[in-house]
Amino acid sequence: MNIVLFGPPGAGKGTQAKELAKHYNISHISTGDILRANVRDGTKLGIKAKEYMNKGELVPDEVLIGIIRDRIQQPDCKHGYMLDGYPRTIPQAEALKDILGKVGKPIDVVLNIEVPDKELIGRLSGRRMCSCGESYHMMFNPPLKQGICDVCGGKLYQRDDDKEEVVSQRLEVYAAKTKPLIDYYSNINILVNIDGTGTVESVFRQICDVLDSHQK
Ligand code: AP5
Repeated sequence: MNIVLFGPPGAGKGTQAKELAKHYNISHISTGDILRANVRDGTKLGIKAKEYMNKGELVPDEVLIGIIRDRIQQPDCKHGYMLDGYPRTIPQAEALKDILGKVGKPIDVVLNIEVPDKELIGRLSGRRMCSCGESYHMMFNPPLKQGICDVCGGKLYQRDDDKEEVVSQRLEVYAAKTKPLIDYYSNINILVNIDGTGTVESVFRQICDVLDSHQK
């Protein structure tokens, strides 16, 4: 199954994508994670991307299109993919259509996770990360020991772009540049809205119901 997981910053894309990819045995492709790994490793791409990410801006389309073109053709995507955080602009969606047409892996469904802005701000400001990739929320999903990762014992930190001033900019950029993709995918009848306001488990079940009925 080939899926795009869509939604504003903090909607729960990463949280759901990790579990869904395991459940359906498909590859999870998070452009945010790919960019952050490059920032961490100090690559040329990471140095360039950091400038945009820390301001809450989108990294230029041509950079992301190149990343996706390579990644979607990797062997682990042969059973399907779950795109998390891509596409984010109309040019990215157009480029994706072109790439997927060439490799014969069209999108089956775009899941649009809907959460009101007020809740998004609470989720992002309370999120804490570990360098091993685990993500927590101080209130909704706290670690067993404050500030320490349950999985690896690492020290938790706040993402630079989860600071208050950057969060509001990310939400503005989402409304201006990314939200128009809802109409883009509705118009071709592959968009399904998901109520993202319940618990992590209830949102997961809702998505599974949609995907299972799609597979029949
Ligand atoms: P990216 O990492 O993709 O950030 P994002 O889309 O803003 O998404 P987030 O990771 O903030 O949120 P999420 O929806 O994954 O929520 P999560 O599950 O973590 O991108 C970062 C930056 O990279 C961009 O700003 C941009 O600069 C650049 N970039 C990336 N892709 C790009 C592209 N295609 N083009 C250009 N630039 C690009 O959940 C959030 C919190 O809420 C967590 O603490 C979690 O525990 C909690 N939570 C989750 N679900 C629930 C729930 N149901 N109830 C309560 N709490 C919940």
